Amino acid sequence: MAEEIQAVRGMNDLLPADISAWQFLEACTRELLGSYGYEEIRVPVVEHTELFKRAIGEHTDVVGKEMYTFTDRGGDSLTLRPEATAGIARALISNRLLRGQRHKLWCSGPMFRHEAPQAGRYRQFWQVDVEAVGWPGPDVDAELIALSARLWQRLGIEGLRLQINSLGTPECRREYRTRLIDYFSAHEGSLDADSQRRLTGNPLRILDSKNPEMQELIRGAPLLTESLDAESREHFAQLRAMLDGVGVAFEINPRLVRGLDYYNRTVFEWITQSTGAQNAVCSGGRYDGLIAQLGGEATPAIGFAMGIERLVTLLLAAGRSPPPSHPHVYVIVSGTRAGAEAVRLVEGLRSERPRLRIELNLGGGNFKAQFRRADKSGAPLALIIGDDEFARGVVAMKPLRQESGQSECPIVQLASGVDAALAALGPAAKPA
Ligand code: HAM
Repeated sequence: MAEEIQAVRGMNDLLPADISAWQFLEACTRELLGSYGYEEIRVPVVEHTELFKRAIGEHTDVVGKEMYTFTDRGGDSLTLRPEATAGIARALISNRLLRGQRHKLWCSGPMFRHEAPQAGRYRQFWQVDVEAVGWPGPDVDAELIALSARLWQRLGIEGLRLQINSLGTPECRREYRTRLIDYFSAHEGSLDADSQRRLTGNPLRILDSKNPEMQELIRGAPLLTESLDAESREHFAQLRAMLDGVGVAFEINPRLVRGLDYYNRTVFEWITQSTGAQNAVCSGGRYDGLIAQLGGEATPAIGFAMGIERLVTLLLAAGRSPPPSHPHVYVIVSGTRAGAEAVRLVEGLRSERPRLRIELNLGGGNFKAQFRRADKSGAPLALIIGDDEFARGVVAMKPLRQESGQSECPIVQLASGVDAALAALGPAAKPA
């Protein structure tokens, strides 16, 4: 036998048995976003490497260590998108969609980061990404956060905590960066290798370190809040008041700095205790400078992305995944004539009753085997098309989950006969 080819490490197959939780989450999200006026956008999975370098920042972990970058046959450096915000900003600029216009957009799809895979952290993972472009806030910030809170409620996910912070203006961040470098340089001997590497490039990321030995040093570090300008302070105060107004509870985490460089002012994260170290299920913030930095006209914006794998894990743990859908009808076929006519008959029924889920027994098999398959399919009703029935112009119908007997229905009234048989089996058996 030829050697098996394995999936790429950190990239998962999504199998039919798991798909109903994903579809439930996607359907809830799509409906909620639509009700807030968000429109779907789909952008390429591959972009010029330069886009991510400029948007996310050269010194971030994502750009510095995690991108899937390659040279294509034309000699261009391309990268599999590690996130969607940069691509959406690029699309708005390339398609000349800015010009003073505002956009509420969402996008869903796989992202790619070469991280060390573990539970909840993958190299290909799915995000639903939501962006509001053109509003300086803080009303839009509050509405976006309220939208995410409402989504958890609709999904039935409990126990998520919201952390918020303000990063102020780029000037505040620059000033804060200098203060941090001074502070950590004075304690250079106590820094771990990661933090030493970050010291000059991206000292804010030292605050995110999960290393327990670094925590005391981090607790003593200066806070960004102390460097905030008056306008950012006011923006943040208004956001907090609006969140209080809509009853969305939050914690202020002055050390929340986020791993991508484009943020300013509001940043936030929804976190859970239940997925171990990978506890952020939804994160985002304001990026008022990004579009100008990518060559578009200066446009304020805010957005967030949620990690679908992490949310699906929570949905499953909460028992909120709907059961997989089964067919309404399983069609058993026996005999040569019936075999030849069954496809036509079933296709006719599908045309007449488009909402009916019908599974036709394919590939033959004796009665016993076909009944076994019918049973396994979960269908409440079997139709039996045999040569004998066919000769008499009827189809037999047999309930599979109830002890009622077999009946017959004329082929010419098959659709209404199936309706009646399913109705007699109760509301759960009927198509929606
Ligand atoms: P991010 O924090 O890098 O932000 O990712 C957003 C979410 O994606 C995280 O909270 C997490 O749930 C999920 N996630 C990230 N990396 C992985 C991974 N390796 N495996 C599984 N899930 C993961 C962004 O991507 C920004 N673009 C969000 C944003 C939109 N900011 C403004 N607009």
